[in-house]
Amino acid sequence: MRNRLEFMKEVARAAGAIQMEGLGKRHQIEFKGAINLVTEIDKKCEALIVDSIKKEFPHEDVLAEEGSGERSSSNTRWIIDPLDGTVNYAHKFPFFCVAIALEVEKELVAGVIYDPVRDEMFSAEKSKGAFLNGEIIRVSDNAPLNQAIVATGFAYNIQEGEKRNNLNNFERFVKKAQAVRRPGSAAIDMAYVACGRLDGFWELFLCPWDMAAGVVIIREAGGSVTTFDGGTYDLYGTEILASNGRIHEDMISVLCSS
Ligand code: IPD
Ligand code: CA
Ligand code: CA
Repeated sequence: MRNRLEFMKEVARAAGAIQMEGLGKRHQIEFKGAINLVTEIDKKCEALIVDSIKKEFPHEDVLAEEGSGERSSSNTRWIIDPLDGTVNYAHKFPFFCVAIALEVEKELVAGVIYDPVRDEMFSAEKSKGAFLNGEIIRVSDNAPLNQAIVATGFAYNIQEGEKRNNLNNFERFVKKAQAVRRPGSAAIDMAYVACGRLDGFWELFLCPWDMAAGVVIIREAGGSVTTFDGGTYDLYGTEILASNGRIHEDMISVLCSS
């Protein structure tokens, strides 16, 4: 059987090539909500990834953002965000990626995040370490929070009156951290925590495909992933707190101080 991590990297690269080919061209945009959009490139990338999986591993489950997945009785599930950072992509803001993860018996065992703009392939397999273009990566050792750079994002429901809208958290981190960023691709934010370009990341209401690959990569790079209060992380839950470990308690204090 094919080495799964190599297969994941190969299809992520192929999807990244589609993204670069379409970058800056006129897109067919459909709105999934007031500000949540999808382009033909998201769909093309998803079709390529899902078709490749179906060919290579026909009996395994697929959960993909644009809906081409289906459940079966398999204990193995591919979790795919074909284009993370679609709003950036549609505006030619060069911060987007492909994210693919593998879950076996409900445990995340492998993930890749490919940034085609910088040709950066972040990858990890459980118990085998995390890598950026083949070189081992580790989380940073920056601490405490006032010497740390952290990132977040805002869910598409922010304009729809949702009470937990992350703005209070954002304000509190701006006052406590050295810097706060909002780059617009949760998967790249998480890859950056894994390689030490960011020290922490938190967000509300992400979906499994936004986070799955990043969770494996951060854990393998020595980082921590929990709920806001430090509890056990749930891929299908509503919150994620990820960090280099050293600022985790500080971040919990900020997130739990409302
Ligand atoms: C979005 C990005 C963004 C995050 C949103 C996600 P999409 O994913 O990851 O950073 O703040 O909540 O939905 O829609 O570009 O794949
Ligand atoms: Ca996403
Ligand atoms: Ca997406």
